[in-house]
Amino acid sequence: MVSKRAHTNYLPTVFTIFGITGDLAKRKLIPAIYHLYCHGLLPEEIHFVGVGRRDLSLGDYGEMIKQSVTYAEGKVDADKLASFAALFSYVEGDIKSPKAYADIGQEIAKRDKDCGHGHQTVFYLAVAPQMFIRIIEHLKEASLTGPCYELGIKGKIVIEKPFGHSVESARQLSEAVMTYADEEQIYRMDHYLGKETVQNILLFRFTNPVINDSWNPEAIDHIQITASEDIGVEDRAGYYDSSGALRDMIQSHCLALATLVMMDEPMSLNSADIHRRKVEMLQTFSLDSNPAESAVRAQYDGYRAIETVAEHSVTETFAAMQLKSSHPRWKDVPIFIRTGKRMAQKETNIAIHFAPCKSDICKAVGIRTEPNVLNIRVQPMEGIGLLLYAKKPGFSIETEQVYMNFTYQTEFTDEQPSPYERLIHDVIIGDQSLFPTTEEVMEQWRIVQPVLDAWSDQALPMHSYAPGEDGPQAAHDLIGQWHDSTWTAGVGKQMNSDAQ
Ligand SMILES: NC(=O)c1ccc[n+]([C@@H]2O[C@H](COP(=O)([O-])OP(=O)(O)OC[C@H]3O[C@@H](n4cnc5c(N)ncnc54)[C@H](OP(=O)(O)O)[C@@H]3O)[C@@H](O)[C@H]2O)c1
Repeated sequence: MVSKRAHTNYLPTVFTIFGITGDLAKRKLIPAIYHLYCHGLLPEEIHFVGVGRRDLSLGDYGEMIKQSVTYAEGKVDADKLASFAALFSYVEGDIKSPKAYADIGQEIAKRDKDCGHGHQTVFYLAVAPQMFIRIIEHLKEASLTGPCYELGIKGKIVIEKPFGHSVESARQLSEAVMTYADEEQIYRMDHYLGKETVQNILLFRFTNPVINDSWNPEAIDHIQITASEDIGVEDRAGYYDSSGALRDMIQSHCLALATLVMMDEPMSLNSADIHRRKVEMLQTFSLDSNPAESAVRAQYDGYRAIETVAEHSVTETFAAMQLKSSHPRWKDVPIFIRTGKRMAQKETNIAIHFAPCKSDICKAVGIRTEPNVLNIRVQPMEGIGLLLYAKKPGFSIETEQVYMNFTYQTEFTDEQPSPYERLIHDVIIGDQSLFPTTEEVMEQWRIVQPVLDAWSDQALPMHSYAPGEDGPQAAHDLIGQWHDSTWTAGVGKQMNSDAQ
């Protein structure tokens, strides 16, 4: 964890959470904020205002905050927990009513008065996406997002994924949001971008010459991204059935990973330079050919039997696609992406498949080697592994596959911040590097929209797969067309068990 009070821009802050009684706030936000609090990674003057509809006494509300922390942490220091809970106040109100905003305004004014100075304001929208525009509109009308006149900082607005449902709805959402707020005020939460391994991608690529020098089409044959879950849709079936694998995972998380892996080196690590390079990269991506040939969808057996899933649901629980890039460096390197529920294992990994061995020695002595694979494991057992060949001990000339493996868990003993801790901290200090911009989100929708359109008229097949399988055969056929390639799930599995 970063050292205490490592940052100088800890401004006095009033941090409002819409949806404080909801699942996200209870499971993720409150525990993450508690961690930041325990590590001294919050401004000394910070106050949290929770907003919800429920009629909660101050005592009940305090108990709810404490329970969220103990549920996530187990046993915690009672005094510390009590002082943490005292940082929270509650506004009971309906998001649709101006009164709620007047009450929030009063809470902010009270802090300003008590402290004798203004505060920066943060508004975290942990509510259903349909409410985003209305809240932002009300905040603006109540003058809550204008600049704090002493600090000169406009109110920050944090919104949760999904950022739209299609290219058109994302455009409408962005336009509506931009009517009431500027880009610099908007922080879109994609928790994947807060993961250590994901943040490491750029540094790993650009600080290691051995990697940077081999990041080219001569050395790299193709790139794979897998984001699979071994569990099903569970209690998210209601939301998931209106979304599906492509929208839920590929449009956001997987394309963000592909961008980090392939973008050009930014001029610096400041937010504007990173985002410029990301947009440039995203603009080069498109489906390899047409949706019939470059995309696969499937549903796991039993999905439609789930109570909250429509009887004849045509929502995919698995999606795979082949992308290409028009970037001069990457135009001959295909990118294969797949994601699914109820698959063989839970893993998110990026597999860089290098070109086959061209050595004359191998040919001369008849050694057959598979191409090297660099495996960036986002989860579980975050780390990086490299699949290599080594001589087998003994008198014969034989090689065997070996794994060079680095895991965060074994290499770094310091506690790692969770993605939500990292991202909430960045919101407070005003670092937008890890938050997708409007342009990025729009590009991501542009890339997947042809597939969504093709799937919506139901002319293309919906494949099926048994729970616990490695996805449908059609996805293996998709990748198999490229140099007889196969998905690299096994490498991740092997590396995970080695590291445990
Ligand atoms: N849960 C997750 O793991 C997760 C993960 C990623 C993204 N997200 C996103 O995060 C957001 C919140 O998800 P969630 O799972 O926390 O939802 P949730 O459990 O249904 O909670 C919704 C919250 O909104 C409040 N609310 C609803 N209508 C309101 C109104 N008219 N006025 C005031 N408050 C109102 C509810 O308050 P009451 O309790 O008083 O009704 C509750 O606190 C969604 O956009 C979701 O897509 C969630």
